[in-house]
Amino acid sequence: MRKRKNLITVAIDSPAAAGAGTQAKLISNYYKLFYLDTGKIYRYIGKLKLNSKNKFSYKQVKYKIKYLKLNALKSKSLLSNEVAISASQVAKDRKIRDIVHKFQQKCAYQPPRKYKGSVLDGRDIITVQLKDAMFKFYITANLKVRAKRRFDEYKKLKKKITYKEVLKTLKNRDKSDKEREYGPLKKTKDSILINTTKLSKKACFKKIKAIMDKKLNN
Ligand code: C5P
Repeated sequence: MRKRKNLITVAIDSPAAAGAGTQAKLISNYYKLFYLDTGKIYRYIGKLKLNSKNKFSYKQVKYKIKYLKLNALKSKSLLSNEVAISASQVAKDRKIRDIVHKFQQKCAYQPPRKYKGSVLDGRDIITVQLKDAMFKFYITANLKVRAKRRFDEYKKLKKKITYKEVLKTLKNRDKSDKEREYGPLKKTKDSILINTTKLSKKACFKKIKAIMDKKLNN
């Protein structure tokens, strides 16, 4: 992959609903970076699997990802609990991960010219996708706090789901995402831990901004 020079690259890994997406958006707006929520790609494939049943194939996924438009990742239909579960199942498959990898690399290293760099969040961003990132953050929060946040989001979207179900799904996804063979979620030694359990969005961004400014202004 040809890499554009002098890019600001930010890699974020986190378990589900820890606030990584919110911070990634704040970072991308403030530093004028291209943002890719990589989980949305797995959700897109997870939804494809739910909809295509036995017609689901690698060939189909390859084709869909080749012609994938970023706008398709904004669909509200990707936000359901069923799609999240299906996403975390397809994400275990090495061939699927390889197909997604190329798309992500292009976003990370060849972002549109108007951006100064890129910020990607997901599970394997620091460990696989952006190993040479300028900034590496591992964002996490206590499981119950994450479940409450996700439950509140579902309520806003008028999804019919109980807190207990959300908690159970997050727990299962955490386990699957951390224990799978390919691209498991883990914190590397060189990443900065941000625990958002007791931090507001603002306080969390302040922390991240201080770290980034220190390096960028040097
Ligand atoms: O981040 P989000 O919860 O939307 O991700 C959905 C699922 O996609 C995760 O549970 C995980 O299994 C998978 N994923 C992944 N690698 C990434 C991002 C997401 O395996 N980089």
